[in-house]
Amino acid sequence: MKTDWILILNIKELTGISDNKDSKLCGDEMKKLNSINDAFLMIFKGKIMGYGKMKDMMMGPASKDNKHSTIIDAKGKMVFPSWCDSHTHLVYGGSRENEFVDRINGMTYEEIAKRGGGILNSAKLIVKASEDELFDAAWKRLEEIIRTGTGAVEIKSGYGLSLETELKMLRVIKRLKEKSPLTIKSTFLGAHAVPTKYENNKEEYIRLITQEMMPAIAKEGLADFCDVFCENNYFTKEETIFILKEGIKNGMKPKVHAEQLSHSGGIEAGVACDAISVDHLEYINDNDISLLKNSNTMSTILPGAAFFLGLPNPPVRRMIDNGLPVAIASDYNPGSSPSGNMNTMISIACIQYKMTPEEAINAATINSAYAMDLSKTHGSISEGKTANIFITKEIPSYSYLPYSFGSNLVETVILNGEIQ
Ligand code: NIG
Ligand code: FE
Repeated sequence: MKTDWILILNIKELTGISDNKDSKLCGDEMKKLNSINDAFLMIFKGKIMGYGKMKDMMMGPASKDNKHSTIIDAKGKMVFPSWCDSHTHLVYGGSRENEFVDRINGMTYEEIAKRGGGILNSAKLIVKASEDELFDAAWKRLEEIIRTGTGAVEIKSGYGLSLETELKMLRVIKRLKEKSPLTIKSTFLGAHAVPTKYENNKEEYIRLITQEMMPAIAKEGLADFCDVFCENNYFTKEETIFILKEGIKNGMKPKVHAEQLSHSGGIEAGVACDAISVDHLEYINDNDISLLKNSNTMSTILPGAAFFLGLPNPPVRRMIDNGLPVAIASDYNPGSSPSGNMNTMISIACIQYKMTPEEAINAATINSAYAMDLSKTHGSISEGKTANIFITKEIPSYSYLPYSFGSNLVETVILNGEIQ
């Protein structure tokens, strides 16, 4: 439904308010979720126009008689800025539940990868899929995450691992960007794994990434970010730095898959390249924490992947208590996190990592907006920001959201000022 004005009235609690639009929340700042009880929110032409206490509201042009306005009564319901999911791999072919069963029967993620499963399995599956098939499958996933409150999402390539198929993935992401009401950022992840063909010649694969893939991708303007899986048997710290620097030359801001399965120096590489985020962090150490503290890099945790693979919990309390900003993303992908439900991610973060609901909600909104270079326009209720919000069902408090794990309490979704 399209109207110029949307006026949401009688909101039990309007949360995630921020006057400081271009920001991230660090350490103790994450403990507070700014909100107003008994509030209104006014949206005009896709942007947040104003908000405040019901008693202070002046209807003005958004009045009931104006046929260009939609009025929503949110009595008993809460309003949140939409989730920002800053790390996904949601363009993929097929599925990998066979590996899930193998892990139940005792194999590890690394063992499955060594026998040609894991990322290389998805690389085989994606070659068979046409661009249209990939688009349609990803579109369904986007529809599903819209219903669970996501308003902005980053999507990576990285199952192509050849010039042709990486381009195919990134072109699909470009089409999704153009068609979807979600705000989408794209990431080139050619350095996700070493294809079997280059098993004994990783240098040549890195040359292909940096000398052939990157220029072609830059020419078509297909990637906002560049990412590397820095891990044993994947890419070393030095290789990560080299690839990220080449990415910068091609206009792609760095991100890193860091310290997921072992301590491999991904955070050091990320900070050295002024990465916008380092993600996973199960094996982060004290030195990494001090490096991150003096950097612009966001620490992103991916609770779905750690839960699904049974990895150790990232030491989130230690990170926040040491003053770091923390973001939460879903890592939606067929191998390590087959869910893009951000409500589930914040529940896991609260239950397993002892994040407070305020910290988890801030991590999944303003801080994850920062991790995808969107904090000027997304991630909080601020005047002038994109009107990406959701209205919940009737709930007693915002803590009820992570508490009700597995439920979808999102009732109404508004993206770019349009009810979805
Ligand atoms: O973020 N760790 C590397 N990449 C993905 C997993 C990809 C896959 O298994 O397909 C991750 O967990
Ligand atoms: Fe990932």
